[in-house]
Amino acid sequence: MDASETPTGTAAETPTRVESWTEWDPLRHVIVGRADDGHIPPPEPALDAKVPEDSDMRGQWGRRPQETIDRANALLDGFADLLRKRGVRVDRPVPVDFSQAVTTPDFHTPSQFGCMPPRDVLLTVGREILEATMSYRCRWFEYLCYRPLMQRYWEEDPGFRHEAAPKPRLTDADYHPDYLSDTIGEAKRLEWAAARHFVTTEEEPLFDAADVLRFGRDLVVQHGFTTNRKGIEWLRRHFPDHRVHAVNFPGDPYPIHIDATFSPMRPGLILNNPQRRLPDEQRKLFERNGWEIVDAAPPAHQTPPPLCYSSVWLSMNVLVLDPKTVCVEESEVYQADQLDRLGFEVVPVALRDAYAFGGGLHCCTADVRREGELQDYFP
Ligand code: ARG
Repeated sequence: MDASETPTGTAAETPTRVESWTEWDPLRHVIVGRADDGHIPPPEPALDAKVPEDSDMRGQWGRRPQETIDRANALLDGFADLLRKRGVRVDRPVPVDFSQAVTTPDFHTPSQFGCMPPRDVLLTVGREILEATMSYRCRWFEYLCYRPLMQRYWEEDPGFRHEAAPKPRLTDADYHPDYLSDTIGEAKRLEWAAARHFVTTEEEPLFDAADVLRFGRDLVVQHGFTTNRKGIEWLRRHFPDHRVHAVNFPGDPYPIHIDATFSPMRPGLILNNPQRRLPDEQRKLFERNGWEIVDAAPPAHQTPPPLCYSSVWLSMNVLVLDPKTVCVEESEVYQADQLDRLGFEVVPVALRDAYAFGGGLHCCTADVRREGELQDYFP
C-alpha cells in the first residue's frame, strides 16, 4: 500500500520518464487506481444531477461495503499484474482517509470519494502531468493520493513538469440550481444537453482530466457536466502549442468524462457511442484528415452493476496498449469481437465488479509513459 512497492516482472527496471502524447502509443508506464476506502459521496449539486432519478444510489451515501472494496481491489491488482507481465511499469496511488469531511472557506462536504479512477484527476500531456481542477466537492482533494508518485517522478526525471490547475472555489455559484430538481426527467435533460446547458455554470474554469483526449498536437475536450467553457479556455491558454477542440454529444443526458463516449483506438480510428453521436459539424476535423469514426458495439449488459454511477457504455472504456493491442473488459463480448474484427489483439481483463468505484479500464488508469513523439495527426 506504499507508492514505492516493488513492481514484479521486467518493467521493474524501467527508468522514470514522464511522456505521453496520445491515447494509443505503446504503453510503458501507467498508474492503476485503488478501491481502498471508496465512498459513495454525500449529496452535492454536481453529483445529484448525475445520479439518475431511478438509480439505486439516490439518497444513499457513506463507505462502500468492505466486501465490494476487497473484490474491486482484487480485480485492480489483477489488472496491474497483467500489465506488468506485458512489460508495463505500474504504480499505485496512496489513498487518504476518504471518510474525512472537506471544509474550505467556501464549502463543506461531509465525506470524499476514493482514488479508483486516476484518469479523472491526472492529465498527461507530453512531459507534463497536470492535476485537473475537478468539479465535485467530494473530489477536491483527490490529487493528494497521487502526490507521493508525482514527488518521486519529479525527483527521478529532471524533464518532468508537475503542474496543478487553479483549485476552484466550488461555491453554489458553480452549479445551476434547476438541475437539482427530481422532476426534470430525461427528455428535458436531453434538450438541455443539446443546448449545452449543463449543471456547471461559467463561474470559474472547471475541468476533469477524463474529459480530455490526446491526439498529439490536438486535444479534444468534452464540454459537459464536469468541464465548462472556461475550463476548456484555461486548457487552451495552458497548452499554447496545442490546438484545443471543444466537442459535445447531444445524445448524452449525463455528459461526464469522454471515455465511454468517444474512444480513439489508433491513428485513423475512433469508436463513438452510437447513442451519443458527435455532431456533423464537429466530425469535419476528423473526416478531413481521413479518420474513421465507427459506432461502438453494443454493451453486453442491460444495466450497470449495483451502486454504479456510470452507464453500461463502460463497455467501450478500453485501454489501448499499442496500436495493435487493446484491453477489453472480459464480459464485453460484443466490444471484444468488434475490436478483433478491426484487427486488434484483444486482451480480456476482469473489471466489472470494480466499475462502481468510478469506471472501467481507461478510467482506472492514467498514463505516465507511452513511446512515441509529438505528432500532428490533423495537419
Ligand atoms: N459518463 C460515462 C458513462 O456513464 C462514464 C465515464 C467514466 N469515465 C471516467 N473516466 N470515470 O457512460
